[in-house]
Amino acid sequence: MKTDYRTLLLILVTMMSMVIVYSVRAEASKPVPGKALYEKYCAFCHGKDGRADTPVGRILKPHPRRFADPVEMARLTDDQIHRAIKQGIPGTAMASWGQILTEPQIGDVMDYIRSLVVAGGTHSTPEQISLEVGRRIYDMECAFCHGLKGHADTDAARVLKPPPRKFADPIEMARVDDGRMYAAIKLGVSGTAMASWGDRLSPVEIIDVMRYIRSLEQPLPAGMTRKKLDILVGGNIYRQYCVTCHGEKGDAKTPLGSVLVPHPRNFTNARVMARISDKRMTQSIMNGRSGTAMAPWGGILNPEDIRRVILYIRHTFQHQH
Ligand code: HEC
Ligand code: HEC
Ligand code: HEC
Repeated sequence: MKTDYRTLLLILVTMMSMVIVYSVRAEASKPVPGKALYEKYCAFCHGKDGRADTPVGRILKPHPRRFADPVEMARLTDDQIHRAIKQGIPGTAMASWGQILTEPQIGDVMDYIRSLVVAGGTHSTPEQISLEVGRRIYDMECAFCHGLKGHADTDAARVLKPPPRKFADPIEMARVDDGRMYAAIKLGVSGTAMASWGDRLSPVEIIDVMRYIRSLEQPLPAGMTRKKLDILVGGNIYRQYCVTCHGEKGDAKTPLGSVLVPHPRNFTNARVMARISDKRMTQSIMNGRSGTAMAPWGGILNPEDIRRVILYIRHTFQHQH
């Protein structure tokens, strides 16, 4: 019977499609691991969407972490997330969940937190994220002394000796290469207000804040060439380290210079200075002159600094005559 076959076929097709629809539905309503737990325990403060823009989240200090924010999440490691959930963060609203969530549940919640991040926007490339992470660290931790725009014009800065570095000033910054900057942030500068941040900032975060500090630097003043800049910087170095013996005028007629034996080199003596090559000067400054008061400066001045101070000495004292 023809119709019976057709009915059977129709029933079969209908059943099959129902099975398919049902299994798709089942797939869709199968709970995402971690989502239910997150919404039950965490969304109250951190928000369903991870923006922490909840009535409670808005009034808490510190603010609950915003899991949706790629910048806030960029440097948060799985270890930190795990520790925060398991042990809580003392002194904040972030309680310990170690008694309530099992280890696998914590894993599921962590995966869910990571899935909440909203990519794109103005901070999408790794460089933009790094710069923005650096800006936030800087504004919170460094601007108090160094100034929001890097001018070191804050109340704190005015009373500090030595004053904080002016990151906006290309002449001051010419001497601060990346290695020196990294070391200063990680270890601090002893004998100054510049504390060590190595315990509070990870190596990546130090790079982030360095990137931001570099972005604060203003262009060289109009008419300033590289060579003029080098001489200016060399002059700063000379006045900081060399002037007590070699003198403001380079003639070594200072109270200390006059009593030293042998006498500090008189840089205005063109005849003598003509015989001293740049290479020898570099050696003498780097390693000192043994048996004399001329100490080695290699630990304090890098090769660039030495090149600049030599340029300054030659340009300022030898060209006077
Ligand atoms: C009562 C509010 C509240 C609830 C509920 C809450 N948190 Fe938090 N959470 C906070 C606050 C506030 C911070 C920020 C602490 C800080 O900045 O030191 C935070 C920070 C965090 C951090 C970041 C840790 C870090 O090192 O910066 C993670 C991860 C986190 N919470 C996960 C969770 C998870 C998972 C849950 C649910 C199981 C949860 N939180 C529930 C308030 C809450
Ligand atoms: C309490 C004030 C204070 C705070 C806060 C502070 N600094 Fe400094 N910083 C100083 C002073 C003072 C100096 C100058 C030290 C010197 O003369 O060698 C300095 C120097 C520096 C230098 C230059 C070091 C060099 O060798 O020339 C860097 C880079 C630096 N700070 C980075 C930072 C960063 C990054 C932060 C924030 C994470 C920070 N500072 C926070 C006071 C501060
Ligand atoms: C404590 C005193 C003192 C200070 C500070 C000092 N010098 Fe000297 N310098 C001397 C003396 C003394 C000599 C002579 C050494 C000799 O006769 O060999 C000398 C010699 C030199 C020479 C000639 C070296 C040669 O090969 O003949 C140069 C260049 C020089 N100093 C540069 C500097 C620079 C640059 C600084 C600062 C970074 C500096 N000095 C700081 C005492 C000093």
